[in-house]
This record gives sequence, structure tokens and C-alpha cells, in this order.
Amino acid sequence: MEFFMTIKQILLTGFVLLMSFALLVISASGEYNPDNPERDQDDIGQKIDSLLSIMTLDEKIGQMTLYTSDMDQTGAFLRPEYIDDIKAGRVGSIFNAYGAEYTRYLQEMAVNETRLGIPLLFGYDVIHGHRTIFPVPLGETASWDIDMMRLTAEVAAREAAAEGLHWTFAPMVDIARDARWGRIVEGGGEDAYLVSLMGAAKVEGFQGNSLNDLHTLAACVKHFAAYGAAQAGRDYHSVDMSDRMLREVYLPPFKAAIDAGAVSVMTAFNDLNGIPATSNTYLFQDILRDEWEFDGFVVTDYTAIMELLYHGVASDASHASELALKAGIDISMQDGFYHQTLADLVDDGRVTEAQINQAVANVLRVKFRLGLFDDPYRYSDPEREKAEVMKPENIEIARDMARKSIVLLKNEDQLLPISSSIRNIAVIGPMADNRRDLIGSWSAAGDWTKSVTLLEGLKKRMPDVNFIYAEGTDIDGNSREGFSAAVAAANNADLVILALGEAYWMSGEAASKVDISLPGVQEDLAKELNKTGKPIVAVLMNGRPLTINWLDENIPAILETWFLGTTAGDAIADVLYGDYNPSGKLPVTFPRHVGQIPIFYNMRNTGRPFDADSKYTSKYLDIENEPLYVFGYGLSYTTFEYSPITLSGNELRTDGSIEASITVSNTGGYEGEEVVQLYIHDKVASVARPVRELKGFQKINLMPGESKDVVFTITNDELAFYRADMSFGSEPGKFTVYIGGNSRDTQSAEFVLTE
Ligand code: BGC
Repeated sequence: MEFFMTIKQILLTGFVLLMSFALLVISASGEYNPDNPERDQDDIGQKIDSLLSIMTLDEKIGQMTLYTSDMDQTGAFLRPEYIDDIKAGRVGSIFNAYGAEYTRYLQEMAVNETRLGIPLLFGYDVIHGHRTIFPVPLGETASWDIDMMRLTAEVAAREAAAEGLHWTFAPMVDIARDARWGRIVEGGGEDAYLVSLMGAAKVEGFQGNSLNDLHTLAACVKHFAAYGAAQAGRDYHSVDMSDRMLREVYLPPFKAAIDAGAVSVMTAFNDLNGIPATSNTYLFQDILRDEWEFDGFVVTDYTAIMELLYHGVASDASHASELALKAGIDISMQDGFYHQTLADLVDDGRVTEAQINQAVANVLRVKFRLGLFDDPYRYSDPEREKAEVMKPENIEIARDMARKSIVLLKNEDQLLPISSSIRNIAVIGPMADNRRDLIGSWSAAGDWTKSVTLLEGLKKRMPDVNFIYAEGTDIDGNSREGFSAAVAAANNADLVILALGEAYWMSGEAASKVDISLPGVQEDLAKELNKTGKPIVAVLMNGRPLTINWLDENIPAILETWFLGTTAGDAIADVLYGDYNPSGKLPVTFPRHVGQIPIFYNMRNTGRPFDADSKYTSKYLDIENEPLYVFGYGLSYTTFEYSPITLSGNELRTDGSIEASITVSNTGGYEGEEVVQLYIHDKVASVARPVRELKGFQKINLMPGESKDVVFTITNDELAFYRADMSFGSEPGKFTVYIGGNSRDTQSAEFVLTE
């Protein structure tokens, strides 16, 4: 009754009164209190209830609708129909709009011109940096440096939040075991344990201790679920997989990100066992809400409700919306299907207003937690924007992260680091002075013109060295016209740095490939240069594992640098000249041939394990089983030796623990970091278990001649899996522990698990 009176009053007395009422209802108790999250949740719950009670159905559906802003040559703009929608309260969030001024302009529209003045939520793909661009996620994960991954997310959030953004569509934690899939670049590679740590660190970095903190962004973990297993590596394709594989490999990174506090989840484009993710009740209700008790909101991927028509599970727009809402999807991205259909669906009794209230509450909760009702403009601050964006500390952090992401794949005869006595160096290849591609795909508001090329980085580092540049050829295409100039440059030099790779758009979304060798005639260029007899260092820039067998066989030194971002050239020069000793390790297996895909280290053994002398074992006629570079692999300028493993006991009780220790010694001439990796194998179980699985790692630093003991504690948790009956737990019996510097070259020991 009170509310009816109030609404009547509001309608009569107009906008000013309405605003004061809305603010009274909404912001009564002030700030989010990180010290007392429960009290805060209760307060928010009451505010949401008050707000819902005065919202019309159309206003509610507005909160479930997300539209894009577009970029034009003259800057950002919004389609006129979206402007009308914002003013009418038919839009709750906008993405691809950033900049303190522009977001303020849009926010004013929502706050001043709608009946209830509910602030907009601004989202954007801040994937690996906002303005300062860090290495692509696959590259960052190669650092195995979780603190650095958290820090770069924190910096990205500071920059983005100063530009009016509230919400990032990251992290992407899709496990990818297929290098054909272009989006492998956006995630942390093939391993559930490593990607879980990466995902959680990203969420912590983006969201900080409190969403109410001005320098944080709400995270959105994506794409739920199993998107990385797209059939044949073709983007958006179907996924068919067992529940065991889903739960053991593809879901844990999502769980880890949610446990770290991620407040939103994005649906995947694919179907999973025939049910599109965007209408998948099993994924969103049974697992996400019921099992994991997720209380944030779920957003679709771009037009994914509309795509239910193409999947062939919905007959029309209404049917598609009904399926999505019932599956637990709170916001439709871009297709406007909720906007078009939900009101009629409620009228027809096909969905209930209670279902809509639930979705709206999930969205409003995040808006409250961000403090938008206290001050809708708090993120759109031109002063803060000026101070935060690309500030010198951010660039330093980017350079540090970039150096740590580089993986040394080969270094015959210690060709690297480059001796400062070499005075003539040819710098050749389409990536050698390339600027455009360095920031990779999904580079947010990153400005590629601000990135440092390899040639520039080298010249800055060694002003007295004569660097002779020749492009040699394009990334793509067949032109050999530049070969002779490149060969001449090599002939005039004592060393060749050959920078090869992919264009930024060759990985990322809708960038699947069946040929993952170096594009164009780049390998032929390498062959021509090799004939000069000059020592060659290959520097690779790419977003996926490449089949580079010829390089591996013929080129003495190879550095994998991914797309390192704004400071790429400086970071690579740091490593080439030994200012930083490379410590990266591959987060993904590099195949020898695309036909080996899917290939990953933690496969099961088969009943006929490989035996070179026996035809009827699991292998190929035309290529070996082994990949080119195994998961966890990466060299250093120094060398490390591992002692045998010592176990604190040979028996582990399910309620106890044992320690596995190993001594790692730096036996080379440089200070260096090593990622010491722990793998475990369950020898006999009710289901065939992977040959080994990563269960821990420690990154240590050793001076030349120094040794350190590295100790891992193993408990029942590391041994649990989905058993034959799909219950989760361990089984007694023998286990092998492996410790080493990659997933293949390890020491081993055995213990027995008893009950
Ligand atoms: C991608 C998402 C992205 C969204 C918004 C989609 O095409 O799949 O990862 O967040 O666009 O830009």
C-alpha cells in the first residue's frame, strides 16, 4: 500500500521527486563494508527488494539487457535506438564504451532521464591490459608467476576503472589442447591446475579486496563451458565430452575463479553434448548455482540467445529467451531477445515474474557492490584517468611481465645471451621492426603505435652496435623479393636475429587454422639465411603453438616470445643480452605435426602403450608420438640439476600428508630462476588415470653454484579424482611422484595411500 501511494505520488509530482525517492530507497545505508561482508549482503538484499518492488516489468527486463557502443573514426558512438532505450530504462549495461567523459555522458542519460535513475554498468574486454598492454594470456601463463599475473590484472583494472569501466569480460579460463583453435591465445593453456591458479589470480587482481574500491573491476569468468574443446579446433563448433572429462579438466578453472570471488560468468557459444551452453540448465542451474552456490550474474556471449535458433533448439525468439531464462541466464548480450520477448512470455505464463526478479536481483547486487548507487559517476573521473593511464610504473610492470613470459626453446653452444663484443648484427624478418602485431588480439584500448619494436629495443639497449635491418618477407604471402637483401644483411653481420611469427589477427576469436606452421614463406627465408653459415637466433611472435620442426633442427637458438604487448622490444632485448635470464615454461604442448592434435601431456596410457618394436601399439606410421616441446618445458642460460626425490615416508594415510623433497642446484654460470614442477600418477584405479598430472610447482631463484631444497606436501586432496561411480575422492594404492623442470624430464619416487 505504501509503495502504491509512493508510485502514484511519483507519477504525479514528476521526475525530481522520483529521483529523491529512488535515492532514499537505494542508498540509505551507504558504503560497502569489506570488514563485514555479511551485514553488507543483508543490506544489499533489502535494497534490492525495495528497488524491485517499485520497478515495472519493462524496467526489470532493461536490467537484463546489454548493448554495445560502437567505435567510429571519430570516436565512440551509440546507435540512436540504444540511446532511446537507455533513456527509457530498457538497457542496464553497455559494453565497448570507455573514457571518463564518454561514460559520464552515457551515465547521465541513465541517471537523469530514466524514471528510477538506475546506473548503467559499463563492460569491456580488458583481457591483458587496458591501455598498457601486457603479454597475451597464454604468454603470461608461461611465466608460471602467479603473483605477477595478479599484479597485471590489478594494473589493468586501475587503468580501466579510471576510464569509467566497471566490468571486464575476463579471465578466459577455457582449457585448450588444440593449437588449431585461435582462442588458445586468450587462456592459460592445457592444464587444469595451472589455469585454475591463473584464473583465480586474475579475479583477485581485477576485483581486489572489495568491488567498492575505486580501482577495481568486476570480473567475468568465461566461457562456461568447454568452449576450448571445439570439435576439430574450429571456433564455435560443437563439443561432445564425458562428464568425467568436463569435471576433471574443463570445470576446475571456473570453480577456482568463482571461489576467488568472480561476480559474473559468461556463457560459451558451443553446444555441450547437444545442449547449447546458453540454454544449458545442467551447467548453469545444477552446477553453477546449486553445486557451487554462485550468487553473481550470468551474461550470454555476443548474441548467443539468438544463436539458439541456429543451433536448432529454439523455434523463435520467444522460445530462445524462454530456454535461456530457465537455464539461469541473467543478461542477454546484444541480441535484444530478452527485451523483445520477456514481457509477453510473462503475460503468457511461460516464464514467471519471480524468475525475472531473480535475474534482476543478481545484476543489481553487483551494481550495489560496485557502489554505483552511492555515486554513479565515481569511475568516470578525468583526473584519475590522466594519472592512471600508462603511467611509468605500469610500463615497468609490463616490461617485467614480458621478460618473464619468454620461453627459451633452444640454445645450442650457449649462443645466447649475445656477447656485447659482437658489433654487427643483422635483424631480419617480418616481426623484426613490426609494431602493429605486438599487442596481440583482444588488446582492449591498447594503442599499438605506442609499442616498442624489437629493432628499437635492441638499438636502445646497444647504441654502439651496428644493427642491419631487412624485412626479408611479409608475414603472409609468397613474395621472395626481399630474400636477397636479407641474405646480404646476414653476410655483412656476425650474428642474425631472425624474428618470425603470426599476425595478431591469426589467433584470437574466429581465427582457427589447420596449418599451424609459420605462415607465408618465412621458413624459406630462414633456410636461405641458414645457408650463409652465420649463427642465427630465431625470435618467435605468435599466439599459438607452431609446428617449427625445421627451425628446431637447424637454428641454434630459439626464443618463444608470444605477443608481449607494449614493451615487447625492450623485454626481448633484455633477454637477448642477458639482463634477464629466461625462466618461462610452456603452458601448452607444441606438436610436431597438426595431425597429432589433440596432444597434451596428461593423457591416459591406452592398453597398448607405445613400443617402437611392436606394430600393434598406439602410434602413427609416419610420425613419432612425442611432441616437439613438452608441457612445462623451457631452458635457462644456466643449467639446473635435480637430486633424487626424498619422501618423508612411503605410506600416506588419507588424513595425513607426506613431503616430497628434492635438491635443485644451479650448475651453470648465471643466476637464474627455475620452475620446479610436481606431477603425480595413480598407478591402479577404478578408472584409467592420466600418465601424470601437475599438482604443484615452485619458482625458485638460484645463484651460480647455489643449491636449494624444494619441498612439496602431498595430501589426499592431490590424489582425488572422479571414480568409476563418479563420486569424487581418492582410492588406496600405489602412486608415483615426479619432480623436474618439465613434464618429461623428472625424478621419481613411489608411495602407497592407505585408508
Ligand atoms: C567473445 C567474448 C567477448 C564478447 C564481447 C564475443 O565475441 O566470444 O569473449 O567477451 O564478444 O566482446
